[in-house]
Amino acid sequence: MNTLLLKNNEEDLKKAADMIRSGQVVGIPTETVYGLGADASNENAVREIFSAKGRPSDNPLIVHLADFSQAAEYTAYIPEIAKRLAEKFCPGALTMVMPKNNKIPMVTSGGLDTVGIRIPSHPVMHRIIELSGCPIAAPSANISGYPSPTSASHVMNDMSGKISAVVDGGNSEYGVESTVISFDDENTARILRPGCITRDMLLEVCDEVIIDRAILNEVAAGEKVSSPGMKYKHYSPRADIIMVEASVQKFAEYVSLCDGENIYSLVYTGDEKYLSHRCFTYGADSSEQAHLLFRRLRELDEMGAERVYVRAPSPDGVGLAVYNRLIRAAGFEVIKL
Ligand code: TXA
Ligand code: MG
Repeated sequence: MNTLLLKNNEEDLKKAADMIRSGQVVGIPTETVYGLGADASNENAVREIFSAKGRPSDNPLIVHLADFSQAAEYTAYIPEIAKRLAEKFCPGALTMVMPKNNKIPMVTSGGLDTVGIRIPSHPVMHRIIELSGCPIAAPSANISGYPSPTSASHVMNDMSGKISAVVDGGNSEYGVESTVISFDDENTARILRPGCITRDMLLEVCDEVIIDRAILNEVAAGEKVSSPGMKYKHYSPRADIIMVEASVQKFAEYVSLCDGENIYSLVYTGDEKYLSHRCFTYGADSSEQAHLLFRRLRELDEMGAERVYVRAPSPDGVGLAVYNRLIRAAGFEVIKL
């Protein structure tokens, strides 16, 4: 299959929307990361998403809508807390898991009786949803297990020949995927995957916000999880990722002992002056680190890195999202100095 590269103009967005309406899979930009979009109600189209990514069939897809008012069409029940959160955070980088109705096929929900609903704020994505008239199922547009794509060229690298088109909407603003939450009760949200909408932001609306244990801890084989994505290895480049929690001085001392061919470090912007070693930087604060992390992991693979020492990010605020992606890429091991 020849994968078309479409531009951000009305004619091309119509082409993308027509493709989605006719059951094809298209790479689409969002404010978080790029997605692989198809009509969420079309079982065959959704199967194509799973096969293009090589994704396990029990890992559910998020359904993207143009406006939160449409959520009632695809859910069996919307808790009041979700309505309040939607007023504050939709459109945006928040996915809310709610009971689904039969307009969402089991293939889309990975066999679960719930569906994650998200209203993206990216104008290109918003326009494609509107023009297609479809609920759009979209996981991140990477090969399963690989870092998520934050540009159209990342999507092309992973998906060229496997999907009908990619729409170029520029670099993703946030760079990490949406915050995924479910509800334990009418006042309690549970974070299943941290993102740029932080626990503190959610606490402005919810009485209690629980950070699921699996966000920072490895799930044991056979353990019951709140979100199937927690079971799978994720966000990993080909290189081995080794996370090191240390001051920049201690970090530099440690990696100087590990130097060798194809060994790199990934450090905060500003740290590079302490390192003699091959070194990439991923930003000075959590928001920059979220924006750059996946891009840097892909670049390190292109350099042929075999091992990458990463100076661990702060786990606070947006940093929790960055920390969560890295700790999973590192197989949940952290060296503390
Ligand atoms: O920012 C995002 O969320 C991006 C863009 C494209 O919207 N999408 C994305 O999708 O990251 P994906 O499939 O790569 O990650 C969705 C995560 C998975 O870990 C999945 O297990 C979880 O959300 N998830 C989706 N639906 C769920 C449900 N009904 N119950 C529990 N977890 C769910
Ligand atoms: Mg993903």
